[in-house]
Amino acid sequence: MKERVIVVTGGNRGIGREICRQLARTDAVVLLTSRDEKDGLEAVEDLNKQELPVRYHQLDVTKPTQILGLTDFLSKEFGRCDGLVNNAGIFLDNQGGNFFNTDLTTVRETMETNVYGPYLLTQALVPLMRKNNYGRIVNMSSGLGRLSEMGANYPAYRMSKTAINAITRVLSSELAGTNILVNSMCPGWVKTRMGGPNAPRPVEQGADTAVWLATLPDGGPTGKIFLDRKEVTW
Ligand SMILES: NC(=O)c1ccc[n+]([C@@H]2O[C@H](COP(=O)([O-])OP(=O)(O)OC[C@H]3O[C@@H](n4cnc5c(N)ncnc54)[C@H](OP(=O)(O)O)[C@@H]3O)[C@@H](O)[C@H]2O)c1
Repeated sequence: MKERVIVVTGGNRGIGREICRQLARTDAVVLLTSRDEKDGLEAVEDLNKQELPVRYHQLDVTKPTQILGLTDFLSKEFGRCDGLVNNAGIFLDNQGGNFFNTDLTTVRETMETNVYGPYLLTQALVPLMRKNNYGRIVNMSSGLGRLSEMGANYPAYRMSKTAINAITRVLSSELAGTNILVNSMCPGWVKTRMGGPNAPRPVEQGADTAVWLATLPDGGPTGKIFLDRKEVTW
């Protein structure tokens, strides 16, 4: 079998970059993507120095033409896509955002990056997975999106993460019976630009479950949400 090709969005920093690093230590070729080419290439160069097989392609997940460009690149360069980690995300209402002071522009912008981007990208890449009846899709969610723990504040971010969980459920149901597994995960509170300096978890811990889900064996779970490799409630 040829090496597996796994696409990671928002791979230039934070949890995404660490996912790329850990995935590249498996037998996969990692396609690190980022919206800023310079940032992404710097990350790739750094990982390549560690002799990790990471390639680069630019991708702003909110730009449909760039999603088409990436799909085209994957088809021509590798003729396959075996994994997709929908990691890129924004948290615009994190500074005191509540239901009354968070405007619809913020909600729409959040949905564009955290939900519609992954939606379109996944639509584009699943056909390449179907070709080999193999795929692992990981949707980066958050405890803030879990309905079982839903509470006050951050409405835009919370809604976006609940919505990506809905994508996981719909898509996994539609792909039932195939070897394309689709799961959501929560990384916990992780020390990144988004998580801030007070977060207790290092990126290594935040990335671990994503890497595990992106490399699940055949017959592994699908349509579920995980934290620290354990299934949790929606
Ligand atoms: N940190 C936490 O505690 C925590 C907790 C729960 C869930 N999460 C989730 O984990 C994921 C990664 O978060 P993080 O903590 O690593 O955050 P981060 O350090 O802020 O990194 C976010 C990444 O997403 C990228 N991104 C944003 N908009 C994009 C777009 N339109 N197209 C492509 N890339 C885009 C950023 O690129 P730029 O560098 O260009 O901005 C960056 O690479 C997110 O989905 C987040 O919601 C994080």
